[in-house]
Amino acid sequence: MKRIQTALAALAFLVTGCTTEKNPMDVFINDLMSKMTLQEKIGQLNQQVAGEIVTGSAQDTKIGHLVEEGKIGSVLNIKGVDNIRALQQIAVEKSRLGIPIIVGMDVIHGFETQFPIPLGLAATWDLEGIQQSARIAAQEASANGVAWTFSPMVDICIDSRWGRQAEGAGEDPFLGSRIAEAMVTGYQGTDPNTFAEDEIMACVKHFALYGAAEAGRDYNTVDMSRLRMYNQYLPPYKAAIEAGAGSVMSSFNIVDGQPSTANHWLLTDLLRKEWNFGGFVVTDYASIDEMVKHGIYPDKQHNAAMALKAGTDMDMVARAFLETLEQSVKEGLVKESEIDQACRRVLEAKYRLGLFDDPYRYCKPERAVGSTYTKEYRRVARQLTAESLVLLKNENNLLPLEKKGTIALIGPLAETRTDISGSWAVSQTPEKYSTLREGLDRALEGKAILLCTQGCNLLNDAEAQKITAKGHGNEPIPYVNKQEACQQALSVARQADVIICAMGENAWMNGEGTSRASVEMPEPQQELLKALKQTGKPIVLLNFAGRATALKWESENIQSILQCWYGSESGDAIADVIFGDFNPQGKLTVSMPQCTGQLPLYYNHLNTGRPVADDAKGYRIFASNYIDVRNGALYPFGYGLSYTTYTYSDIQLSHTEMPVSGNITASIIVQNTGKRPGYEIVQLYLRDKFASISRPVKELKGFRRIHLNAGESKTVTFEITPELLKFYNNNLQHVIEPGEFDLMIGPNSRDVKTVTFNVK
Ligand code: NOJ
Repeated sequence: MKRIQTALAALAFLVTGCTTEKNPMDVFINDLMSKMTLQEKIGQLNQQVAGEIVTGSAQDTKIGHLVEEGKIGSVLNIKGVDNIRALQQIAVEKSRLGIPIIVGMDVIHGFETQFPIPLGLAATWDLEGIQQSARIAAQEASANGVAWTFSPMVDICIDSRWGRQAEGAGEDPFLGSRIAEAMVTGYQGTDPNTFAEDEIMACVKHFALYGAAEAGRDYNTVDMSRLRMYNQYLPPYKAAIEAGAGSVMSSFNIVDGQPSTANHWLLTDLLRKEWNFGGFVVTDYASIDEMVKHGIYPDKQHNAAMALKAGTDMDMVARAFLETLEQSVKEGLVKESEIDQACRRVLEAKYRLGLFDDPYRYCKPERAVGSTYTKEYRRVARQLTAESLVLLKNENNLLPLEKKGTIALIGPLAETRTDISGSWAVSQTPEKYSTLREGLDRALEGKAILLCTQGCNLLNDAEAQKITAKGHGNEPIPYVNKQEACQQALSVARQADVIICAMGENAWMNGEGTSRASVEMPEPQQELLKALKQTGKPIVLLNFAGRATALKWESENIQSILQCWYGSESGDAIADVIFGDFNPQGKLTVSMPQCTGQLPLYYNHLNTGRPVADDAKGYRIFASNYIDVRNGALYPFGYGLSYTTYTYSDIQLSHTEMPVSGNITASIIVQNTGKRPGYEIVQLYLRDKFASISRPVKELKGFRRIHLNAGESKTVTFEITPELLKFYNNNLQHVIEPGEFDLMIGPNSRDVKTVTFNVK
């Protein structure tokens, strides 16, 4: 099989289910499928786990014999290039037709070089950087046996009780879409039909709406209007597919009452017919089995048949296809042609990945050696980690700190090596990473004394603290005696000029299965903060989290707060910001609430018929507000400070009237009025004031990341196109409706300048 086939196959990619005899990929696959038995075709639809990374009902993980019998098309989360090569060898040399397997893995914020968790990467607003992070992840993964990543996760999430907010880009569909595109391109390159040896296939997940789990409880029910889906939740999936993502993962939740995995409207009508998706769909982990618990059919066979008919092509882990589809054909529950179609899609992906040309192209041990966790990759990760840090508060410019005197580093996250890289870092090698303490020490170069102690437990519940260390070789953060640890912390604090607190969530307090009913600072940590405050020493709080947390007490009592999002190079990157070698520039992509009770909380909400402004003081009866807390976020979407300051001029519009098919421009002058150079993220928001359906009070529609030297000004111009003004109406038509629009520009979603224009 020659590589040139793939280039010629390009034309067919977007044409779902359309095969032609002339297309070399089709010729090859037709020929191969003509030799395959029904059981071998079903084998291609079966994905098995083959290693220690197990999150659900994993079955037998010794799978060599199944590969040999042609009963496995793909394997997930197997580690070690030699192991992968050995398995591939069985597939290629021992199975009857020698069809290679595809090895997939959760490479969600890096392979061995761990970037900040996706929510942190999003906070950089640096699309080139994000693309580069995915590129590096692909380079490392592809050198270590992995041809396919289960990323990007593009689920919109407005309720940070859900621990998987960590894995997505936050609450905004516009930004989420741009990030989805950047990641797909970073993994796959620009041509979705041809993969170089160091490019891997992306998998958009979790299709769909997984981030809308009720009450933020993982795996919980989702129930949503089509309007909300189309306008708020679906755009990032669509953007990822338009960017060429080769595969899609169905979600655990129900959509319109049916599990996504078996939802025909979702997987066929929307995904394939409306969006023209031409790749294949894999279920999430054992989700065909979970259909029993959802109460669809009591048996594997009927659930598997329903999933296949709905548009699922590959069954992750449940073995439901493997064990039942042959029988279902005999009984007329499914047609052989439906199995053929799914098998063809899987083989097409293998073909595009070049696996028929060279089944070992992703598992060449000699490649793995020189191209993993390299100096250059680490440099990029350190840069992006520094970019991701969000300065939430900096009273009296406490930060940056000078490298002098005595500094106390206190908190459960101060010395952990296994938590530093963040959640679900499947292929991390913590022994190579630095702790925060080591990073700070290195930066200090002996110019200041750094004293360090844990100070408190992560959580009050010892068992829960232990469970949060369940990751791959994660060393649990020791469960300490509360009084002794606190006394030790106070004694360290009293010797210091300034205290840095490393607190919040460890890596396993966010990610899958880690919902929290309270997103406040865990009790033992807040207690320690309160005790430390009594010393009167200035405090810098490093808040590690994989979600929007509620830091009301902290924001009222602690001088400086820096939001941290993990990453293998965090130790150095945080030091870069703390000591002023890097000017912070990250901006939140989630609204940080004042308290859990405000959730779900998002800036792009509707106005209601009885609105109360976000920052209005005092309670108003019979209006849409709370007795005990104002409506707005503590730190709004788009917010983040810098060591310099910026001012924004008034907005200049090219015209105050815009034809429905024309463009106007909006410009603003941004000036760096402080003493340091910095990057500012200038944000554009729009509001359609009157329309056939109620529209959000504002929606992000553009942003620019600009560099400004001290004193420098730049004019930032946004082009307002009809596309930006469109929304899905009640008939799900994507329309622009003439009328009045507000146009807002500012440094975050709250502090904006506003002008108005009319669309005619
Ligand atoms: C379950 C998770 O929901 C999904 O994101 C992940 O890709 C699979 N497990 C495989 O590990």
